Amino acid sequence: MKNDSEPAFVDPANFDPHAPAFIANPYASYKWFRENEPIVWLEKDYQSYWVFRHEDVIQILDNSDIWVKELEVEEGSKKPALTKSLFASDGHRHAQLRELLGPLFRESTEGLELAVSAIAEGLIPDTKPGDIVNFIAEYAHPLPSQSLAHVLGINPGSWSTIVHLVNRIILANDPAQGKLARGVAGGAVLSMRFGALAAAFVEDHGLLGTALEALFELPEQLQPGKMVSLMSDLAKRSNGSEVDFTIKDVSANAVSLALAGYFTTTHVMGTGLVNLLNHPESLDTVKKAFESNSSSEIMPNVVSEMLRYDAPIHVLDRFANETTQLGGVTIEKGKKIAVVIGSANRDPDAIDDPDKFDISRNCNGMLSFGHGIHQCIGEQMLRRELPIALECLFTKFPSFEIAEPPTWQTDPYFRGYTDLQLRFK
Ligand code: HEM
Repeated sequence: MKNDSEPAFVDPANFDPHAPAFIANPYASYKWFRENEPIVWLEKDYQSYWVFRHEDVIQILDNSDIWVKELEVEEGSKKPALTKSLFASDGHRHAQLRELLGPLFRESTEGLELAVSAIAEGLIPDTKPGDIVNFIAEYAHPLPSQSLAHVLGINPGSWSTIVHLVNRIILANDPAQGKLARGVAGGAVLSMRFGALAAAFVEDHGLLGTALEALFELPEQLQPGKMVSLMSDLAKRSNGSEVDFTIKDVSANAVSLALAGYFTTTHVMGTGLVNLLNHPESLDTVKKAFESNSSSEIMPNVVSEMLRYDAPIHVLDRFANETTQLGGVTIEKGKKIAVVIGSANRDPDAIDDPDKFDISRNCNGMLSFGHGIHQCIGEQMLRRELPIALECLFTKFPSFEIAEPPTWQTDPYFRGYTDLQLRFK
């Protein structure tokens, strides 16, 4: 197989982002696109322009009035306007939601480190030399998932159903899987479930809340002081006030947080660990930093480089709100754009020697958390969580190796493993 920097020839008319060779290594193809056809229309599955250069990606993410999350519903259209989450909203409503939810999220993540350490300790497998463990299933999935349940304030009884629905929705993101209907149904159930949890929290919650409560038997209640109860509390206080935040907003935003808040961390834990294992000097530096309690000096860079080298999310969607010129291409109003941040992170015009995994580099220009108004609100959570996860692992297991080649997940919008078998020594 070609390595990251080896040139590939890509025939844009037949480019297939689901080809197994591309899924295993998209970087050589990204390089070809950046150099030869940096904006390309992809008809099959996506019907969108794929944008590969860092410069163009920044141009899109910086201009959120032109490149929007969702096109306005036409006046007179029969399509109902759905309640939009922070993730899906634009303009004024997005700014309003960010201002309302930012402080609640900060409050919910207070004391995160203690919770993550306890969860990590509980998950570290009990192994003897020679044992093989699937790192993704045993550690990289449950750790961020349970940490997110803690931040959202959802008890395990409800959380397991939520995780099941989230996994279903994430699978449906890939049009080639043909699981859109299952995903939409999963989204509707998840949204009702969060609505019911919020309604149970808000005493005077009206007809919608009563209906939702009647639909779901709720085994457990929300934990006070955490994200979903804080949002529910906001909805309660907003009732009859100037603040525009209802139970529907609680469920839309809880769904968004559940969707965005752990699978990304699972992915970077897997790829980040493999990149360290493939670069023994970097691995040694990280282990020594943990041993000498000096990891806080290097971990911010290490985490950034793990994210830059293999971004958990490779593609972000936008729509053109007006006909616009981008990199010499005319993009008509209403067209969809696939913003390939996984390629921008490897663009030599923005990052020196980008195909080198270098934990000491300055990662300015790294776009794995997005850029502009929608830049990830969970960035600090990941930055606090990942070092604890690695420290716990290396402290318990100073030595292990990759037992067999890991299996990539197959949605080109994401990058991560479904299986990573480690052999403990
Ligand atoms: C490795 C970890 C993570 C990565 C790589 C990541 C990546 C991203 C990216 C690329 C965006 C921008 C989306 C866009 O512009 O369309 C984003 C937004 C967002 N992320 Fe994350 N994320 C991570 C962790 C988290 C966590 C832990 C949470 C919360 C618990 C979270 C919640 C969100 C939310 C709510 C948004 C929407 C923000 C907005 O639209 O204003 N993310 N994330």
